Amino acid sequence: MLDIARIREEFPILSRTVYGRPLVYLDSGATAQKPRAVIECTERLYRELNANIHRGVHYLSSEATAMYEAAREQIRTFIGASSREEVIFTSGATASLNTVARSWSERFLREGDNIIISQMEHHSNIVPWQMAAQARGAEIRVLPFDDSGRLCTELLDTLIDSRTRMVAVTQASNTLGTRPDIETVVARAHAAGAHVTVDGCQGIVHGGTDVARMGCDFYAFSAHKLYGPTGTGVLYGRRELLEQMPPCAGGGDMVESVSFEKTTYAPLPLKFEAGTANYVGAIAAAEAVRFVSSLDAAAVEDHERRLTQLAHRLLSEIEGLRIYGTTEDKCSIVSFDIEGVHNYDVGMILDKLGIAVRTGHHCAEPVMRRFGVSGMCRASMALYNTEDEIEALAAGVRRAVRMLRK
Ligand code: ALA
Repeated sequence: MLDIARIREEFPILSRTVYGRPLVYLDSGATAQKPRAVIECTERLYRELNANIHRGVHYLSSEATAMYEAAREQIRTFIGASSREEVIFTSGATASLNTVARSWSERFLREGDNIIISQMEHHSNIVPWQMAAQARGAEIRVLPFDDSGRLCTELLDTLIDSRTRMVAVTQASNTLGTRPDIETVVARAHAAGAHVTVDGCQGIVHGGTDVARMGCDFYAFSAHKLYGPTGTGVLYGRRELLEQMPPCAGGGDMVESVSFEKTTYAPLPLKFEAGTANYVGAIAAAEAVRFVSSLDAAAVEDHERRLTQLAHRLLSEIEGLRIYGTTEDKCSIVSFDIEGVHNYDVGMILDKLGIAVRTGHHCAEPVMRRFGVSGMCRASMALYNTEDEIEALAAGVRRAVRMLRK
């Protein structure tokens, strides 16, 4: 069992009030709160260590460089990558996905090829592929999900053909909570000679990641959803593919030698890290990983599962409320709407009660379209949430419905 009270003490923001009420933070899918260790690490870095990495021979620069590379190593171990060359720091998952879509497509995508994208993707695992497909004259195909939110991986074989080059899929949907069967996706895609990109933003937080076991070719996540700082993310890529791919951005740190006649690029991973890296972010992200790794992963999963089941049970007792995403092993994301009541109004009333949920299309418009709604309310739970908070959510939703339904 997790000691939730002790864990909550590690997150200073959780003890604040909003509108004079205790904060009930149920929007960790958008960004997670930060433990003391991450906050203090960031402050300490600026107070004691700040110097640009990979550039100076002086003491501070060498120390910052060593910590940045140690952060890379920490993250490499955490995600199960086999070498440091495969771990590229970016400004976030969106930057990671744009980098891979742009660079990979330049090397591997040709006119007449196709890319398969799951219907439950966040916009950041859709739009970069559309842009790449448009630039190259390739086609986008969509792998659908069913009414329960289960990704129909059995339909992959009807979409994949000899011109399929990439399959883009989430590890866990940010609206439905669904965890697709990635291993099946990878097996089918690889059998056809296609690559696989996994958006790990939600998945890495709820259940962790082992890219080697998953077998994917590329994997992206943001530190800020993993209790780390904003502005930092990671792109994992299989080394043999990254080596063949051109850099996306040019500048300092990504070159070996520059002249007006010819520039040669730095080896991996720096080839993809142009400019001054967000070294403070990367080092603080490693601190977040250390924090997560210090907890009993099975106990965290168990706790989040209980919160999710409670949310499902209490919310589904509310008349006219529909929950979207009901697969058995979903992660702790519960999206819902209520007949005759707008999600935004519900969100506003919950807010006044101190309860933070996300409203709107959650950057997943195809999911909204699939269910014929313009938006949903979403409660996304993290390891610091409590059963009392879920009860407060259900009571708040009941109250909102009473106020809004004439
Ligand atoms: N992608 C984030 C979310 O799902 C912002 O809320």
